[in-house]
Amino acid sequence: MKKIPIIAGNWKMYKTIAEAKDFFSIFLPLIKESSAKILIAPPFTALFSCAEAVKGSPVLIGAQNISAYKEGAYTGEVSARMAKEAGAAFVLLGHSERRLHFHETGALLQKKLHEALAAGLIPILCVGETAEEREAGRSLEIVKKQLDEALSSEELKDLIIAYEPVWAIGTGKTATPQMAQEMHQNIRAHLREKMVKNCPILYGGSVKSDTLAALLKEDDIDGVLVGGASLDPKHFAAMALL
Ligand code: 13P
Repeated sequence: MKKIPIIAGNWKMYKTIAEAKDFFSIFLPLIKESSAKILIAPPFTALFSCAEAVKGSPVLIGAQNISAYKEGAYTGEVSARMAKEAGAAFVLLGHSERRLHFHETGALLQKKLHEALAAGLIPILCVGETAEEREAGRSLEIVKKQLDEALSSEELKDLIIAYEPVWAIGTGKTATPQMAQEMHQNIRAHLREKMVKNCPILYGGSVKSDTLAALLKEDDIDGVLVGGASLDPKHFAAMALL
């Protein structure tokens, strides 16, 4: 059976509302024949307008982050319920840029995961080791720790994992399909031990249209999480059509 891949785009802190509108005016007509599950996470400010723009198309819009709190005096925060109401179907959690620049910890991510599930958002939990950790042969240990810290015992049936080695993000250095497959297989085995079943596992880190096919051929790679290459509507559409 041919797999239906998940092709997810993380726009990071790129695109205003007007720029997002321009993107969809080119992107949506191009992906009409795509059978992939297409996900895009714009910045919060463009969430609502993007959700409106993709209505009637198979594209799902999501948030790049949510607050760990339900509501309250938390200046600058956006709750899971607010993101959901603005049109988010999913949320990225624990991206390495948030772990690095905003000091997100496993304990915090556990709270965010709880909030996401309570609001009906599908969490995409990002995990991955740094270059130093890989060189020290600690990749699997680090990834398992990140999974254990963020995943509590609640029922996690609508969860997606994204394996994004930090050294491959925005660097042009993609993990080889074999490296990614080996880690995905280990992640799947670890999730099974935690009774998490049927969990799609995405690979992220410098994925482009020319590296996509080889990654998707691997048994345990269910899709990709794309940064830079998701900003260009033609390039990202080509990936969704592969
Ligand atoms: P790049 O595809 O730009 O390396 O970014 C990957 C990423 O961080 C997706 O979340």
